[in-house]
Amino acid sequence: MISNADLSQINQILLTGATGFIGRHLLPALLDAGHRVRATSRRPAHQLDLTPHDNLECVQLDLLDGTSLDGTFDGIDTAFYLIHSMGGGVGREKEFVERDKRAARNFARRAAAAGVSQIVYLSGLKPPGRASAHLESRREVERILLEGEVPLTVIRAGFIIGDGSAGCIMLDALTRTMDTLMVVPEFHNHTQPVYVDDVVAALMCCLSHRDQTLGQTFEVGSREQVTYLELIQMYARFAGRRLELIEVPWMPRSLGAVWLSAISDLPYGLIQALSEGLVTDLPVEDERIYQICDLPRTSPEEAMRLAV
Ligand SMILES: NC(=O)c1ccc[n+]([C@@H]2O[C@H](COP(=O)([O-])OP(=O)(O)OC[C@H]3O[C@@H](n4cnc5c(N)ncnc54)[C@H](OP(=O)(O)O)[C@@H]3O)[C@@H](O)[C@H]2O)c1
Repeated sequence: MISNADLSQINQILLTGATGFIGRHLLPALLDAGHRVRATSRRPAHQLDLTPHDNLECVQLDLLDGTSLDGTFDGIDTAFYLIHSMGGGVGREKEFVERDKRAARNFARRAAAAGVSQIVYLSGLKPPGRASAHLESRREVERILLEGEVPLTVIRAGFIIGDGSAGCIMLDALTRTMDTLMVVPEFHNHTQPVYVDDVVAALMCCLSHRDQTLGQTFEVGSREQVTYLELIQMYARFAGRRLELIEVPWMPRSLGAVWLSAISDLPYGLIQALSEGLVTDLPVEDERIYQICDLPRTSPEEAMRLAV
């Protein structure tokens, strides 16, 4: 906890996406550091299952509804943007692109009007080649937030390993229901995944080292590069599941997404958007944040062991 001498360090934080995978991990870190947190969800406060705390205020907010932003930013110093709109059923999987733009525009405009000092956005890594619709949408949100008047810090991450991440839920469903995995060529692409606690540490670094992080874009990820197939195999091993592999040249992605959605309970549109991102390597190219803060860098193997 923060001592009396540090009271000037206490910020009033807006945490959007507080009910999401990242938000749920960041919230206790913010409260433990002594910050006051206004947590948002589209659901009313009484329906949320967030543990009550003296420094926690829950408010209802739908970023697609401009009127619901009234008062949201009052007294706010730093605002975390942990929102995406991916989801939807078959035929509606591209609608998130427009929704994400509208939400970011509403957020940027009202944050500026309220005099917020810093926005922190968790985005996706930038592929060396063509970006999928999902990763391009992350870039577009960055651009919209950057064009606003509030100084922005962007943290880019690839596959985030942690209990409750969409990626791990998919790995769980895959390895739970299949003895034999069809290995498509894109499973051999490389990435640098990151453990959820390490992402939280990077987001907290944006508060503790605000002067060095304002207006900057950083990337986080493990030191080691691993393939998506290795991630699947790691999950299976730690979950005690056997998996035979069969290499196949191609598989219809939308069919795979329909099936994975049925066995994982994740929305089809989310699976479709995430799986499109596997078609290229997704490396970490900018490691400057590790020089600014002494951040943990959990290996993919250890992260997966902790997550399963
Ligand atoms: N998870 C990853 O592997 C990963 C990797 C890289 C980057 N990121 C980025 O990290 C951020 C958070 O991801 P996540 O995995 O935590 O997502 P998540 O678990 O799906 O949570 C998404 C959050 O967005 C909120 N939300 C959606 N639409 C909203 C709207 N119109 N107005 C207000 N709130 C809305 C939801 O709140 P309610 O449903 O309660 O309203 C929910 O809390 C996203 O920007 C994502 O792109 C995630």
